[in-house]
Amino acid sequence: MGKFKRSKNPSGEKSKEKGPRLRFPFVGTPMPATCKEIERYPLNAPFAYAVVAEDQTSRARKYYVDEIVLSPREAAIYTYLLDTLESELTVPRSEVNPRDYFREQAKRVVTKYSMNASQLSWPKILYYSERDLVGFGVLDGFMRDAGIEDISADGVGKPIFIYHRKYENLETNITFAKDEELDNIISRLAHMAGKHVSTAFPVVQGTLPGRHRLAATFRREISPYGGTLTIRKFREDPLTIVDMLNLNVINYSLAAYTWLLLENRATAIVAGATGSGKTTLLNALLTLTRMSAKIVTIEEVQELNIAHLNWTALVARQSYGTGEESGTEVGLFDLVKATLRMRPDILVVGEVRGEEAYVLFQALSTGHGGLCTLHADDVTSAVQRLTSKPMDVPASFIPFLDLIFTVRRISIPTAGGGTRVVRRVLSVDEVVGVGNYVKMFKWDPNTDKHVASQLKMSVKLARLAKDTGQSIPDLIEEINRRASVLRWIAQKGIRNFKEVSTLFEEYRLRGPELYQTAEVELDRMGVASDSEIEESVTI
Ligand SMILES: Nc1ncnc2c1ncn2[C@@H]1O[C@H](COP(=O)(O)OP(=O)(O)OP(=O)(O)O)[C@@H](O)[C@H]1O
Ligand SMILES: [Mg+2]
Repeated sequence: MGKFKRSKNPSGEKSKEKGPRLRFPFVGTPMPATCKEIERYPLNAPFAYAVVAEDQTSRARKYYVDEIVLSPREAAIYTYLLDTLESELTVPRSEVNPRDYFREQAKRVVTKYSMNASQLSWPKILYYSERDLVGFGVLDGFMRDAGIEDISADGVGKPIFIYHRKYENLETNITFAKDEELDNIISRLAHMAGKHVSTAFPVVQGTLPGRHRLAATFRREISPYGGTLTIRKFREDPLTIVDMLNLNVINYSLAAYTWLLLENRATAIVAGATGSGKTTLLNALLTLTRMSAKIVTIEEVQELNIAHLNWTALVARQSYGTGEESGTEVGLFDLVKATLRMRPDILVVGEVRGEEAYVLFQALSTGHGGLCTLHADDVTSAVQRLTSKPMDVPASFIPFLDLIFTVRRISIPTAGGGTRVVRRVLSVDEVVGVGNYVKMFKWDPNTDKHVASQLKMSVKLARLAKDTGQSIPDLIEEINRRASVLRWIAQKGIRNFKEVSTLFEEYRLRGPELYQTAEVELDRMGVASDSEIEESVTI
């Protein structure tokens, strides 16, 4: 633990010291003595720690943001600093780091007003002032925790919940007790995302600094329990196709088959429920496309992160109608239309929901490669959604779609008798037409393995064989070679998206040599390179 003494200081505690409007930073409630710590790790040491604890009686687990507490004397300096900087702080030049700028300004105020911030207190005061002026305020700890996937505030008087990679859904020790507190943080976050939110425009979505996805509603306009907010945390280092292999989301033959098809401009949809991992899989699949391809991505909020150099990223714009920040709406539909003039090799729509689907399929029908995600549970409902309102894709366009990946978040049993939540590609289907699908891969819940259909049944490989003048057995051999290369990459511990993309490009340029290297090294490592395809069964 840090060198500072901790004391119980519930948020909003009034100081007994004289002086106007003494503010204490907003912090979570302390952990009761009846709880047992399961894990403690630093979020911003020595000022903030994450504690996952279990209540001894109810066995309920909770996440505590355990922050250092300010004494009334320190709070007085904090209050003064906040008041002064809130009125004096000018917007730094865009190339200046806001935190560095803030520290400089904070020091200036302390010197200018001859304040006596003792050596011990100053880092604490600076921590909170920075957290509340240029950071994410009371949410700062969550934002620093790489183990957190989602943060949700559901209204006033309701604790914030998080989704933790290791512990899943957890209640936290932070609750907005007053409307004002929640409204303030929502306004601030909207502002940080460069968006406008007000009672007239109470719905906001945008991208926070650090590329985290924000969705919020303001005041009680449309959410009766007070404002709401959901943040989907961004991963700096996205999960790649190699991570998907290591995590058993897919297997080698599935990845190699997809690699061959996507490199040859196959079109694909990733279908699944909310939070099932659609965008993550889509991002990983994009690594399998040619590095030299021109990719245009279209999203409502930017989430995709790929290594391609010839990549144009477009993000839709909301309209506000009136006011300073008014602007004409540029929706997904407009963007997809505009994109057709940009001659993309691969057009990616982050998530299709409306009429943009129709334009996307028009693009697919004219030979563009294309990928997107869609909220749907399985293949049949995905195509049903595509062909009904508001997407209204004509049935005659459906054959332009080659593959449908279905992903799901599922609980599977662990060796210890418990369960753990994992993501799995449940199936990969080739689309022939509406109601006509060929299941190429399927996940077996009993063995937690993917089983493959006989690849010679593949309609898409047959087409590729015809287009390239190769035979299906040639293509199956190529898939086997690629599966070995993937296995070699994974065994070498290479997973970063840039390195993986570079190796894939290298394979495209000098495939046989790279395959030879892979074989030799796999042999030396004692890893069997035989692909699962050879053992595949018909499903
Ligand atoms: N295979 C995986 N293993 C571990 N974490 C994953 C995996 N896939 C996705 N995630 C994490 O799960 C969260 C949700 O993933 P993602 O955004 O891809 O879901 P989604 O289905 O696109 O959600 P939404 O419907 O909200 O758009 C993210 O934090 C992501 O990092
Ligand atoms: Mg998504």
